[in-house]
Amino acid sequence: MSTLTGKLKETVAFIKRLVPADPQTGIILGSGLGNLTGEIQVEQEIYYRDIPHFPVSTVEGHSGKLIFGMLSGKRVVVMSGRFHIYEGYSPQEVAYPVRVLALLGIKALLISNAAGGVNANFKPGDLMIITDHIGIFTLNPLIGANEEALGPRFPDMSAPYSWELIAKAKAVASANGISLQEGVYFGVTGPSFETRAEYRLIRTLGADAVGMSTVQEVIVAAHMGLPVFGVSVISNIGIRDDNNTVTHQEVLDEAKTAEPKLTAIFKGLVAEL
Ligand code: HPA
Repeated sequence: MSTLTGKLKETVAFIKRLVPADPQTGIILGSGLGNLTGEIQVEQEIYYRDIPHFPVSTVEGHSGKLIFGMLSGKRVVVMSGRFHIYEGYSPQEVAYPVRVLALLGIKALLISNAAGGVNANFKPGDLMIITDHIGIFTLNPLIGANEEALGPRFPDMSAPYSWELIAKAKAVASANGISLQEGVYFGVTGPSFETRAEYRLIRTLGADAVGMSTVQEVIVAAHMGLPVFGVSVISNIGIRDDNNTVTHQEVLDEAKTAEPKLTAIFKGLVAEL
C-alpha cells in the first residue's frame, strides 16, 4: 500500500503485534532531554530502524527508539529521538511518527525541545510553556494530497497547544516549586543557528524562542485532532549585547541543567491525564 494511510496501517500493525496494550500518552523528548526515559518502567523498546516506514534518526544526542511502558502509573509511549528537517527528512517524514502515535490511541502528546530565547526576560535554563507557534517560515507537513481519513484539508490552528494541558502543567509546576516562562515558539529549518539580525527579526515577529523542531509535529497533531502540550528548554539566548556565539555543546549542556524540572513536569502531567 503506497498511500500514507496504507503505510501507517502497516506501521501500526507491526507495533501492535509487539505491544498489545494501547499507550494513553505520547512523549517526544528533545536534544539532551532524554533522562525521563530512566523513570519509565519499560515494557518494550523498538528501534526506529526496525519499524516499517519509519525514518532513522542520525543526530548526536538522539538514540532513536520508541519506548513503551509505565510512567506515573500510566501507560506511555516515548519517542527517544526525533526527526528534523535539517537532517534531510521531508516535513512529512518528520511528522510521520506523530501520526503513528495518534493511531496507536494516545489521547495527548507532550513535546519538549531545546530552543534559543529571543525574549530579553529569558535566561538559559528557563522552561517556556509553548502557548503558540509561528510555523510559516519552515516547511508544512500537510503539503500534498490530503487523505481525509487522517484529517481535514485545511485544519484549524487557533489553539494547537491545549489550554487544558497548559493549566494542568502550571498546577504541577507550582506544586513542585518550578517557575515557568511562557511564549511563542518560532520554527526554523536549521541547521545553522540564527544570525544576530535573524534573532532580532524573530523577536520583532512576535516570538519568544526559536528552534528547529516541533512545528511539523504539532501541525500533524492538530490535523488529527490530538491535543499537545509543548515545553522549550531555553538553552541559549539569541539576543545579547556581548559578542556571544552559540554552539551545539552549549545547547546540550543547558538542556541537561534544566532537565530535572522538565522531567518533574512531564511526570506530574502524565499522572493527571
Ligand atoms: N536557534 C535555533 N534552534 C535552537 C537554538 C537557537 O538559538 N537553540 C537551540 N535550538
